[in-house]
Amino acid sequence: MRHIIDPTDLSREELDEVIDLALDIIDNREKYSEACKGKKLATLFYEPSTRTRLSFTAAMMELGGNVLGFSDAQSTSASKGETVADTTKVISCFADIIAMRHFEEGAALVSAMNSRIPVINAGDGSHSHPTQTLTDLLTIKREIGRFDNIKIGFCGDLRFGRTVHSLIKALARYSGVEVILIAPDELRLPDYMKYEVCEKYGIPYREVKTMEEVMPELDILYMTRVQKERFLDEDEFDRVKDAFILTPEKLADAKPELRILHPLPRVNEITVEVDADPRAAYFRQVENGKFVRMALILTLLKWAAEGDDKQKLIPEGTVVNEHHCSNRRCISNMENVDRLFRPATDDSGIYRCVYCESKAAK
Ligand code: NCD
Repeated sequence: MRHIIDPTDLSREELDEVIDLALDIIDNREKYSEACKGKKLATLFYEPSTRTRLSFTAAMMELGGNVLGFSDAQSTSASKGETVADTTKVISCFADIIAMRHFEEGAALVSAMNSRIPVINAGDGSHSHPTQTLTDLLTIKREIGRFDNIKIGFCGDLRFGRTVHSLIKALARYSGVEVILIAPDELRLPDYMKYEVCEKYGIPYREVKTMEEVMPELDILYMTRVQKERFLDEDEFDRVKDAFILTPEKLADAKPELRILHPLPRVNEITVEVDADPRAAYFRQVENGKFVRMALILTLLKWAAEGDDKQKLIPEGTVVNEHHCSNRRCISNMENVDRLFRPATDDSGIYRCVYCESKAAK
Protein backbone atom coordinates (compact mmCIF):
# COMPACT_ATOMS: atom_id res chain seq x y z
CA MET A 1 0.00 0.00 0.00
CA ARG A 2 1.27 3.48 -0.85
CA HIS A 3 0.32 6.58 1.17
CA ILE A 4 1.22 10.27 0.85
CA ILE A 5 2.28 11.49 4.25
CA ASP A 6 5.15 13.70 3.16
CA PRO A 7 6.14 15.11 -0.25
CA THR A 8 9.22 12.88 -0.15
CA ASP A 9 6.94 9.85 -0.44
CA LEU A 10 6.96 10.63 -4.17
CA SER A 11 10.13 10.40 -6.23
CA ARG A 12 10.90 13.19 -8.66
CA GLU A 13 9.58 11.00 -11.51
CA GLU A 14 6.38 10.28 -9.60
CA LEU A 15 5.91 13.98 -8.80
CA ASP A 16 6.27 14.76 -12.49
CA GLU A 17 3.79 11.99 -13.36
CA VAL A 18 1.14 13.34 -10.97
CA ILE A 19 1.59 16.88 -12.35
CA ASP A 20 1.39 15.59 -15.94
CA LEU A 21 -1.75 13.63 -15.10
CA ALA A 22 -3.30 16.79 -13.60
CA LEU A 23 -2.48 18.65 -16.83
CA ASP A 24 -4.14 15.90 -18.86
CA ILE A 25 -7.21 16.07 -16.61
CA ILE A 26 -7.43 19.84 -17.21
CA ASP A 27 -7.42 19.26 -20.98
CA ASN A 28 -9.71 16.20 -21.01
CA ARG A 29 -12.22 16.56 -18.18
CA GLU A 30 -14.79 14.27 -19.78
CA LYS A 31 -12.30 11.39 -20.08
CA TYR A 32 -12.00 11.16 -16.28
CA SER A 33 -15.62 11.74 -15.31
CA GLU A 34 -16.24 8.10 -14.34
CA ALA A 35 -12.70 7.10 -13.43
CA CYS A 36 -13.60 6.58 -9.75
CA LYS A 37 -17.13 5.27 -10.22
CA GLY A 38 -18.09 3.14 -7.21
CA LYS A 39 -15.13 4.39 -5.12
CA LYS A 40 -15.40 6.30 -1.85
CA LEU A 41 -13.12 8.96 -0.40
CA ALA A 42 -13.30 9.55 3.37
CA THR A 43 -12.40 13.10 4.40
CA LEU A 44 -11.44 13.02 8.09
CA PHE A 45 -10.89 16.63 9.12
CA TYR A 46 -10.05 17.24 12.79
CA GLU A 47 -9.01 20.82 12.04
CA PRO A 48 -10.70 23.71 10.15
CA SER A 49 -10.43 23.77 6.37
CA THR A 50 -12.19 25.32 3.39
CA ARG A 51 -10.07 24.77 0.29
CA THR A 52 -8.43 21.49 1.13
CA ARG A 53 -11.54 19.59 2.20
CA LEU A 54 -13.82 21.02 -0.46
CA SER A 55 -11.25 20.55 -3.22
CA PHE A 56 -10.85 16.90 -2.19
CA THR A 57 -14.63 16.59 -2.27
CA ALA A 58 -14.95 18.31 -5.64
CA ALA A 59 -12.06 16.21 -6.99
CA MET A 60 -13.71 12.92 -6.06
CA MET A 61 -17.07 14.11 -7.42
CA GLU A 62 -15.48 15.08 -10.75
CA LEU A 63 -14.02 11.57 -10.93
CA GLY A 64 -17.50 10.13 -10.52
CA GLY A 65 -16.81 8.81 -7.00
CA ASN A 66 -18.49 9.44 -3.65
CA VAL A 67 -17.37 11.19 -0.49
CA LEU A 68 -18.09 10.58 3.19
CA GLY A 69 -16.48 12.02 6.28
CA PHE A 70 -16.53 14.75 8.89
CA SER A 71 -15.35 18.31 9.19
CA ASP A 72 -15.77 18.66 12.93
CA ALA A 73 -14.17 16.04 15.13
CA GLN A 74 -16.33 17.15 18.08
CA SER A 75 -19.23 15.34 16.44
CA THR A 76 -17.26 12.08 16.15
CA SER A 77 -15.99 9.45 18.55
CA ALA A 78 -12.72 11.38 18.81
CA SER A 79 -14.61 13.45 21.41
CA LYS A 80 -15.11 10.20 23.38
CA GLY A 81 -11.39 9.52 23.24
CA GLU A 82 -11.08 7.29 20.18
CA THR A 83 -7.54 7.27 18.82
CA VAL A 84 -6.44 8.01 15.27
CA ALA A 85 -5.37 4.37 14.94
CA ASP A 86 -8.80 3.00 15.88
CA THR A 87 -10.73 5.55 13.79
CA THR A 88 -8.59 4.60 10.79
CA LYS A 89 -9.28 0.88 11.27
CA VAL A 90 -13.00 1.69 11.32
CA ILE A 91 -12.93 3.93 8.25
CA SER A 92 -10.91 1.30 6.35
CA CYS A 93 -14.12 -0.78 6.44
CA PHE A 94 -16.18 1.96 4.77
CA ALA A 95 -14.02 3.73 2.19
CA ASP A 96 -11.36 3.16 -0.49
CA ILE A 97 -9.08 6.07 0.35
CA ILE A 98 -8.66 8.55 3.23
CA ALA A 99 -7.73 12.25 3.30
CA MET A 100 -6.91 13.26 6.88
CA ARG A 101 -6.22 16.65 8.44
CA HIS A 102 -5.23 16.71 12.10
CA PHE A 103 -3.78 19.17 14.58
CA GLU A 104 -1.49 16.44 16.03
CA GLU A 105 1.80 16.24 14.14
CA GLY A 106 2.34 12.73 12.83
CA ALA A 107 -1.39 11.85 12.87
CA ALA A 108 -1.47 10.95 9.18
CA LEU A 109 1.55 8.67 9.61
CA VAL A 110 -0.13 6.86 12.51
CA SER A 111 -3.25 6.57 10.36
CA ALA A 112 -1.24 5.06 7.48
CA MET A 113 0.38 2.56 9.85
CA ASN A 114 -3.09 1.33 10.80
CA SER A 115 -4.83 1.50 7.45
CA ARG A 116 -5.89 -1.06 4.85
CA ILE A 117 -6.52 1.76 2.33
CA PRO A 118 -4.30 4.61 1.08
CA VAL A 119 -4.00 7.62 3.40
CA ILE A 120 -3.33 11.15 2.18
CA ASN A 121 -2.03 13.70 4.67
CA ALA A 122 -4.17 16.81 4.25
CA GLY A 123 -2.09 18.65 6.88
CA ASP A 124 -0.67 17.48 10.24
CA GLY A 125 -0.19 20.37 12.66
CA SER A 126 2.65 22.61 11.57
CA HIS A 127 4.57 19.69 10.10
CA SER A 128 3.58 18.80 6.56
CA HIS A 129 0.98 19.45 3.84
CA PRO A 130 1.92 17.46 0.73
CA THR A 131 -1.25 18.06 -1.32
CA GLN A 132 -0.81 21.82 -0.99
CA THR A 133 2.68 21.21 -2.35
CA LEU A 134 1.29 19.39 -5.38
CA THR A 135 -1.07 22.35 -5.83
CA ASP A 136 1.88 24.75 -5.65
CA LEU A 137 3.91 22.68 -8.12
CA LEU A 138 1.07 22.52 -10.63
CA THR A 139 0.69 26.29 -10.28
CA ILE A 140 4.42 26.86 -10.81
CA LYS A 141 4.30 24.57 -13.86
CA ARG A 142 1.35 26.41 -15.39
CA GLU A 143 2.54 29.91 -14.52
CA ILE A 144 6.32 29.63 -15.00
CA GLY A 145 6.74 26.41 -16.94
CA ARG A 146 9.62 24.89 -14.95
CA PHE A 147 10.71 23.65 -11.51
CA ASP A 148 14.45 23.83 -12.09
CA ASN A 149 16.39 27.10 -11.79
CA ILE A 150 13.92 29.14 -9.80
CA LYS A 151 14.53 31.66 -7.06
CA ILE A 152 11.70 31.50 -4.55
CA GLY A 153 11.16 33.79 -1.57
CA PHE A 154 9.14 32.38 1.34
CA CYS A 155 7.65 35.15 3.44
CA GLY A 156 5.83 35.17 6.78
CA ASP A 157 5.45 32.23 9.12
CA LEU A 158 8.20 29.82 8.12
CA ARG A 159 8.20 28.20 11.55
CA PHE A 160 4.63 26.94 11.76
CA GLY A 161 3.70 27.13 8.07
CA ARG A 162 3.47 23.48 7.02
CA THR A 163 3.00 24.42 3.36
CA VAL A 164 6.44 26.03 3.35
CA HIS A 165 8.13 22.95 4.81
CA SER A 166 6.53 20.63 2.29
CA LEU A 167 7.20 22.80 -0.74
CA ILE A 168 10.89 23.20 0.11
CA LYS A 169 11.19 19.42 0.51
CA ALA A 170 9.65 18.86 -2.91
CA LEU A 171 11.77 21.53 -4.59
CA ALA A 172 14.85 19.81 -3.14
CA ARG A 173 14.23 17.16 -5.81
CA TYR A 174 14.96 19.68 -8.61
CA SER A 175 18.14 21.51 -9.56
CA GLY A 176 19.14 25.14 -9.49
CA VAL A 177 16.51 26.03 -6.87
CA GLU A 178 17.44 28.89 -4.55
CA VAL A 179 15.46 29.73 -1.45
CA ILE A 180 15.21 33.10 0.29
CA LEU A 181 13.68 33.10 3.74
CA ILE A 182 11.90 36.31 4.75
CA ALA A 183 10.68 36.08 8.34
CA PRO A 184 11.06 37.68 11.76
CA ASP A 185 13.39 35.84 14.18
CA GLU A 186 10.44 34.27 16.01
CA LEU A 187 9.12 32.66 12.81
CA ARG A 188 12.28 31.28 11.23
CA LEU A 189 12.42 27.97 9.40
CA PRO A 190 12.89 24.99 11.79
CA ASP A 191 16.40 23.60 12.10
CA TYR A 192 15.57 20.22 10.60
CA MET A 193 14.47 21.99 7.42
CA LYS A 194 17.73 23.92 7.20
CA TYR A 195 20.12 21.11 8.03
CA GLU A 196 18.34 17.98 6.80
CA VAL A 197 16.69 19.43 3.72
CA CYS A 198 18.39 22.59 2.40
CA GLU A 199 21.96 21.68 3.35
CA LYS A 200 21.62 17.97 2.67
CA TYR A 201 20.26 18.54 -0.84
CA GLY A 202 22.53 21.51 -1.55
CA ILE A 203 19.78 24.13 -1.84
CA PRO A 204 21.32 27.54 -1.25
CA TYR A 205 19.26 29.52 1.26
CA ARG A 206 19.54 33.00 2.66
CA GLU A 207 17.69 34.63 5.55
CA VAL A 208 16.77 38.28 5.04
CA LYS A 209 14.83 40.88 7.02
CA THR A 210 12.67 42.56 4.35
CA MET A 211 10.94 41.47 1.16
CA GLU A 212 11.88 44.72 -0.59
CA GLU A 213 15.61 43.91 -0.54
CA VAL A 214 15.12 40.70 -2.56
CA MET A 215 12.03 41.54 -4.62
CA PRO A 216 13.88 42.27 -7.91
CA GLU A 217 15.55 38.81 -7.87
CA LEU A 218 12.51 36.64 -7.26
CA ASP A 219 10.74 34.33 -9.71
CA ILE A 220 8.19 33.36 -7.04
CA LEU A 221 7.08 35.09 -3.87
CA TYR A 222 5.34 32.57 -1.60
CA MET A 223 3.36 34.49 1.02
CA THR A 224 1.99 32.83 4.16
CA ARG A 225 -0.39 33.60 7.00
CA VAL A 226 0.97 33.84 10.55
CA GLN A 227 -0.46 30.66 12.07
CA LYS A 228 -2.27 32.11 15.08
CA GLU A 229 -3.62 28.72 16.19
CA ARG A 230 -0.11 27.28 16.67
CA PHE A 231 1.17 29.92 19.12
CA LEU A 232 1.33 28.91 22.75
CA ASP A 233 1.94 32.53 23.79
CA GLU A 234 -0.56 35.19 22.67
CA ASP A 235 1.89 38.08 23.25
CA GLU A 236 4.35 36.43 20.91
CA PHE A 237 1.65 36.22 18.23
CA ASP A 238 0.77 39.92 18.73
CA ARG A 239 4.43 40.88 18.26
CA VAL A 240 4.75 39.18 14.87
CA LYS A 241 1.26 39.17 13.39
CA ASP A 242 1.79 42.19 11.13
CA ALA A 243 5.44 41.46 10.34
CA PHE A 244 5.15 41.35 6.54
CA ILE A 245 2.40 42.85 4.45
CA LEU A 246 2.59 42.80 0.67
CA THR A 247 1.28 45.97 -1.00
CA PRO A 248 1.38 47.12 -4.65
CA GLU A 249 4.17 49.58 -3.71
CA LYS A 250 6.44 46.74 -2.57
CA LEU A 251 6.07 45.13 -6.00
CA ALA A 252 7.46 48.20 -7.77
CA ASP A 253 10.86 46.59 -8.44
CA ALA A 254 9.62 43.03 -9.02
CA LYS A 255 10.11 41.22 -12.33
CA PRO A 256 7.16 41.26 -14.74
CA GLU A 257 7.36 37.41 -14.75
CA LEU A 258 7.19 37.17 -10.93
CA ARG A 259 4.34 35.05 -9.60
CA ILE A 260 2.83 35.55 -6.15
CA LEU A 261 1.58 32.37 -4.50
CA HIS A 262 -0.27 31.94 -1.20
CA PRO A 263 -1.88 28.70 0.04
CA LEU A 264 -4.70 30.85 1.52
CA PRO A 265 -6.58 31.76 3.66
CA ARG A 266 -5.18 35.28 3.70
CA VAL A 267 -5.66 37.50 6.71
CA ASN A 268 -3.92 40.80 6.06
CA GLU A 269 -0.52 39.75 4.67
CA ILE A 270 -1.50 40.63 1.09
CA THR A 271 -3.61 43.75 0.65
CA VAL A 272 -6.63 43.27 -1.62
CA GLU A 273 -5.22 45.86 -4.06
CA VAL A 274 -2.58 43.29 -5.04
CA ASP A 275 -5.29 40.90 -6.32
CA ALA A 276 -5.70 42.90 -9.54
CA ASP A 277 -2.01 42.49 -10.42
CA PRO A 278 -1.67 39.77 -13.11
CA ARG A 279 1.29 38.38 -11.15
CA ALA A 280 -1.05 37.47 -8.26
CA ALA A 281 -1.61 33.75 -8.90
CA TYR A 282 -3.20 32.70 -5.59
CA PHE A 283 -6.77 32.35 -6.77
CA ARG A 284 -5.67 30.43 -9.86
CA GLN A 285 -3.64 28.27 -7.45
CA VAL A 286 -6.85 27.25 -5.64
CA GLU A 287 -8.36 25.74 -8.79
CA ASN A 288 -5.17 23.82 -9.48
CA GLY A 289 -5.68 22.18 -6.08
CA LYS A 290 -8.74 20.35 -7.31
CA PHE A 291 -7.07 19.01 -10.46
CA VAL A 292 -3.96 17.83 -8.70
CA ARG A 293 -6.00 16.07 -6.01
CA MET A 294 -7.91 14.29 -8.80
CA ALA A 295 -4.56 13.15 -10.17
CA LEU A 296 -3.33 12.02 -6.75
CA ILE A 297 -6.50 10.07 -5.90
CA LEU A 298 -6.30 8.28 -9.26
CA THR A 299 -2.62 7.49 -8.80
CA LEU A 300 -2.97 6.12 -5.26
CA LEU A 301 -6.00 4.00 -6.17
CA LYS A 302 -4.10 2.64 -9.17
CA TRP A 303 -1.10 1.72 -7.00
CA ALA A 304 -3.41 0.10 -4.43
CA ALA A 305 -5.07 -1.99 -7.17
CA GLU A 306 -1.63 -3.05 -8.45
CA GLY A 307 -0.59 -4.08 -4.93
CA ASP A 308 2.35 -1.64 -4.84
CA ASP A 309 3.90 -2.12 -1.40
CA LYS A 310 7.35 -0.63 -1.78
CA GLN A 311 6.77 2.18 0.71
CA LYS A 312 8.56 1.90 4.06
CA LEU A 313 6.73 3.99 6.64
CA ILE A 314 9.40 3.46 9.30
CA PRO A 315 12.92 4.53 8.26
CA GLU A 316 16.09 2.45 8.63
CA GLY A 317 17.72 2.65 12.04
CA THR A 318 14.53 3.59 13.91
CA VAL A 319 14.64 2.93 17.64
CA VAL A 320 11.45 2.22 19.59
CA ASN A 321 10.50 3.76 22.94
CA GLU A 322 14.02 4.90 23.82
CA HIS A 323 13.40 8.67 23.63
CA HIS A 324 10.62 11.20 24.12
CA CYS A 325 9.70 13.86 21.56
CA SER A 326 10.45 17.48 22.48
CA ASN A 327 7.38 18.70 20.55
CA ARG A 328 4.23 19.05 22.66
CA ARG A 329 2.04 18.83 19.55
CA CYS A 330 3.49 15.53 18.39
CA ILE A 331 1.08 12.59 18.34
CA SER A 332 3.60 10.60 20.40
CA ASN A 333 2.93 13.01 23.28
CA MET A 334 -0.85 12.96 22.83
CA GLU A 335 -1.86 9.40 21.99
CA ASN A 336 -0.68 5.98 23.03
CA VAL A 337 1.67 5.14 20.15
CA ASP A 338 5.19 3.73 20.06
CA ARG A 339 7.80 6.50 20.33
CA LEU A 340 9.84 6.18 17.14
CA PHE A 341 13.17 7.96 16.59
CA ARG A 342 15.66 7.81 13.76
CA PRO A 343 19.24 9.10 13.68
CA ALA A 344 19.43 12.57 12.08
CA THR A 345 20.70 12.42 8.51
CA ASP A 346 23.23 15.23 9.13
CA ASP A 347 26.25 14.51 11.33
CA SER A 348 24.79 16.09 14.50
CA GLY A 349 24.43 12.70 16.21
CA ILE A 350 20.94 13.55 17.48
CA TYR A 351 17.75 11.53 17.08
CA ARG A 352 14.67 12.91 15.39
CA CYS A 353 11.06 11.90 15.90
CA VAL A 354 9.73 9.82 13.00
CA TYR A 355 6.28 11.43 13.36
CA CYS A 356 7.18 15.14 13.44
CA GLU A 357 10.99 15.40 12.89
CA SER A 358 11.55 17.31 16.16
CA LYS A 359 14.58 16.49 18.28
CA ALA A 360 14.46 13.87 21.01
CA ALA A 361 13.99 15.58 24.39
CA LYS A 362 17.11 15.85 26.51
C1 NCD B 1 -2.92 26.18 4.60
C2 NCD B 1 -2.93 25.15 5.70
O1 NCD B 1 -4.00 24.70 6.12
O2 NCD B 1 -1.84 24.81 6.12
N1 NCD B 1 -4.14 26.31 3.93
C3 NCD B 1 -4.48 25.41 2.96
O3 NCD B 1 -4.49 24.22 3.17
N2 NCD B 1 -4.71 25.90 1.75
C4 NCD B 1 -2.33 27.48 5.01
C5 NCD B 1 -2.91 28.20 6.20
O4 NCD B 1 -3.81 27.73 6.88
O5 NCD B 1 -2.41 29.29 6.46
